[in-house]
Amino acid sequence: MRRMTQTPTSYHAVAKLLHWLIALMIIVQIPAGMFMTQMDFSQTKFTLYQLHKSFGFIVLALSLFRLYWRLTHPIPALPENTTGWKAAAAKLTHVGFYVVIIGIPMTGWLMVSASPLEIPTKIFFAIPVPHWPVPISEGSEGVFRLSHELLAKATIGLIVLHVGAAMNHHFKEKDDVLLRMLPRFLDGKS
Ligand code: HEM
Ligand code: HEM
Repeated sequence: MRRMTQTPTSYHAVAKLLHWLIALMIIVQIPAGMFMTQMDFSQTKFTLYQLHKSFGFIVLALSLFRLYWRLTHPIPALPENTTGWKAAAAKLTHVGFYVVIIGIPMTGWLMVSASPLEIPTKIFFAIPVPHWPVPISEGSEGVFRLSHELLAKATIGLIVLHVGAAMNHHFKEKDDVLLRMLPRFLDGKS
């Protein structure tokens, strides 16, 4: 019988689902966040902010569950020729992603908690979310806003490195690193 502790050859379906759901939401949230901040004040801008916060909370919840899943389930090993700086870069990028997928929504939440505007946060206009007991001032809001923005910009760098590495594995090294993160109907094994 296959033991749970054995190194798998592919990511678990749950890990794949979480990977692609979170990736999709992050890839939409970053440009959407940048766009909404440039808009003139209007009801549409207010609605976009509320939607941005709502999807951000979904990312936060999924990411915390993903971290728990990652820490409690084995993942496939890197290919044998991926050693040294390449293996270290992969590990660093993956850790960096966990930092940003949790850190971005957290700093967003802290930002709105610190805002002197004190606009209530309601997920999809329905579920009220409490604010953190942080100092309410433009200064503290600004610190969280800057952290939110810098983490989002760092994420763009991580995505470029990560997608570049995935393409290199698939097209140059011709190994199964990309395939093992794809849904089964796309991985060529089913
Ligand atoms: C997937 C998670 C999230 C991503 C990727 C993300 C990304 C961004 C980006 C790129 C900006 C524009 C920053 C700038 O250029 O000034 C932004 C703005 C903003 N985000 Fe998020 N965000 C996320 C979650 C959240 C959450 C959970 C909240 C609050 C609960 C939030 C609140 C805000 C607010 C209020 C702004 C506007 C700041 C301003 O008016 O200057 N974000 N976000
Ligand atoms: C915001 C977007 C993304 C985030 C946050 C993200 C995050 C991550 C993380 C944290 C891992 C490590 C999984 C783990 O061990 O827990 C991972 C693995 C992986 N990602 Fe992404 N990813 C993103 C986008 C993409 C895209 C667009 C692609 C492909 C074009 C991709 C392909 C892969 C592959 C192939 C792996 C498996 C790597 C391996 O087995 O070593 N990712 N991703």
